[in-house]
Amino acid sequence: MATTQLRAAATEPQPTEESVGVELRGVTRRFRSSRGDEVVALRGLDLSAADGEVLAVVGPSGCGKSTLLELLAGLGDPDEGSLAAGGTSSREGRLAACAYMPQRDLLLPWRSALANAALALEVQGVPAAAARRRALPLFERFGLAEFAGALPAELSGGMRQRIAFLRTLLAGRPVLLLDEPFGALDSITRAAMQEWLAEALAAEPRTVVLVTHDVREALYLGTRVAVLSPRPGRLVAELAVPSESPRPRRETVTDPAFTALEEQALAALEPPRP
Ligand SMILES: Nc1ncnc2c1ncn2[C@@H]1O[C@H](COP(=O)(O)OP(=O)(O)OP(=O)(O)O)[C@@H](O)[C@H]1O
Ligand SMILES: [Mg+2]
Repeated sequence: MATTQLRAAATEPQPTEESVGVELRGVTRRFRSSRGDEVVALRGLDLSAADGEVLAVVGPSGCGKSTLLELLAGLGDPDEGSLAAGGTSSREGRLAACAYMPQRDLLLPWRSALANAALALEVQGVPAAAARRRALPLFERFGLAEFAGALPAELSGGMRQRIAFLRTLLAGRPVLLLDEPFGALDSITRAAMQEWLAEALAAEPRTVVLVTHDVREALYLGTRVAVLSPRPGRLVAELAVPSESPRPRRETVTDPAFTALEEQALAALEPPRP
């Protein structure tokens, strides 16, 4: 196994007008609660990731992480500020540029794993049989061929997340938005899944925005980590994590440079002392 070198980077990504990464400038998003109160989910959020980067976003529950992904995915517009994904800022453009994996796996229980993944193509108008034929090589490539015919109820939680991820990948979009992909998994499965995702992204590079509660997961999978404040979410720290990828997880998380970054991120997450 190759040894892992982690260094804090001095360089910042430089997204341009033509960048196919993601960019948010002064994004504010407000909601009206069911009681009629105003809820400010995000306030003045600045964030960017260059093409091919994995931007991991960590922050306390309710700070607007899912809201951020929904905005990028084109499911809504900010109340203030601007944002772009995949080189386009219009809502239709963002809808076309992003593949969104929501916080729950949302596999259809009556469809096989293969048919669930193929849905990403069917919604684009590809006939069902052709969609399945196109999905199958991805199952083979990621060692999941034997599970292609299984129903979601027959699969473990980790396996269901792999299928949901393949479906996201199959959409063929330049930007992947992953909301807590391993949030419901136990820690052993979660560690295995992190390695699996790192390998999958090395094989199929994309610009990724990965939301997670887990600082280690953010540092392991991200090339850049954004730490958000409690609601309304603002950027409180941004850490660059350059390294070769995929990284061997066990070696990476015990690397002193990794631990130093982890401490920085955890300190940024701590609420200010009164
Ligand atoms: N459609 C909506 N209508 C009203 N309030 C909303 C809506 N969507 C989100 N909110 C509120 O905005 C805030 C941010 O929610 P969001 O789901 O983005 O948080 P989160 O960081 O993803 O939380 P978690 O880590 O628990 O998933 C919360 O207070 C939530 O109640
Ligand atoms: Mg959320």
